[in-house]
This record gives sequence, C-alpha cells and structure tokens, in this order.
Amino acid sequence: MSTIARNQWYVAAYGREVGRELFSRTICEEPILFWRTEAGEAVAMSDRCVHRRYPLSEAPSRLDGDTVVCGYHGFTYGSDGGCVFVPGQARVPRTARLRSYQVVEQDSFVWVWIADPDNPEQGDPTRIPRAPWMDSPDYTVVSGMEPIDCNYGLLVDNLMDLSHETYLHGGYIGTPEVAETPITTEIDEDSNVIYVSRHMDDAECPPFYSESTGIEGRITRWQD
Ligand code: FES
Repeated sequence: MSTIARNQWYVAAYGREVGRELFSRTICEEPILFWRTEAGEAVAMSDRCVHRRYPLSEAPSRLDGDTVVCGYHGFTYGSDGGCVFVPGQARVPRTARLRSYQVVEQDSFVWVWIADPDNPEQGDPTRIPRAPWMDSPDYTVVSGMEPIDCNYGLLVDNLMDLSHETYLHGGYIGTPEVAETPITTEIDEDSNVIYVSRHMDDAECPPFYSESTGIEGRITRWQD
C-alpha cells in the first residue's frame, strides 16, 4: 500500500528550473511535465501522452507557443492539458486530455497539488506553508536539490529531531546544547502543520557557523 499523503501541496521545483524548455519531475510517483507559457505562468500536466504514453518531456517533443507537441505522433496539448490537435483527424476526441495539476509559485518554489484520485479535493493556496526569506533580498539563500535514496518519511524524521546534530555532526554544526535543550512541539490541525522548535539562549557557536560568518563565542541559536 502506498504511504503517500495525497490531497496535499508539494514543492515540485524551484521557479528558476521551470522555463520555456520542457521539464519533467516525478512527484509522488507521478511523472509531471512543467513549462512556462509565453506570459510566464508555470503550468503542470502529466508527462505521458494520452496516445501511446510517450514522455512529453523527451525530444523530439517540443513547445510551440503555448502548446506542447508530442514527439511521437504529434498530438498537441494546450496549457490546461486538453488536446487541441490530432494529425490526420478533423475532430479531437473529447477524452484526449492530460491530467493537469494546480500550480502555485511562491517564495521561489513551484508547488503542485497532488490530488487523491479516489477522493479528489481542490487545493487551497492559502494553506501552503510560507518561506518568504527564500526570495527576499534581505537574505543570502543557499539552495539546491539532493536526491536521497530512501523512504521520504525517514528524512522527515531526521529533520524533525535535530538532537542528532550533537552526535552525527559534532564539531561541525552540532554542539552539546542541541541535544541538551528540550524541544517544543505544536500541532496546527487546521493547517496540517507541525512546528518543532528548540531555542538555545546561550550556545556555543558551532565551527561551521563561525567559519562562514566570522561570529565567535556564545550565541543565541534557534532551530525552528
Ligand atoms: S504517443 Fe504522443 S502522439 Fe502518439
């Protein structure tokens, strides 16, 4: 049985990854095609042609204005996933439609709504967790992607319990205060968000941060 939580928003890409080249990423086991319309709007649809399942992100598939032309037999799709042209046919079958996804671009991320096919719900963009510093000129942001070959739940566990820093990353980002300071946990049932915080009022500045910032000695350190 799949353990994937559906009817949820997921980060699919950085906004900078999506442009006028066809771009594919698998999210929750679904191959999704991303591209930008000529007006600059990010759109997402299934990356498998309805005809013979050819990946629309693969050459010689291509963008033609605000349509995607399948590289296998030329079925052509609009930005809502609907098929608009079938070579050699005057009429386009009404069922010829790619699954399309709700997309929100916010805080440098492209978010997609992964609906539950058995019980589909509409995504509410106001429920997307915010991270405004990610594209704020007031912050220096280091970002990237790191594929990890494990069940995603293990990474969530890892980041929700940073007490491991003291041991696994000792002498680097881990100092004794991390494991010694208790966490507070808040569950916001309405927004489906769990907040875990550890506020250290008087902590040793870990070597990684002293080297990267020049700050030395005792610091106030928060992990939220
Ligand atoms: S597989 Fe796309 S047109 Fe045939």
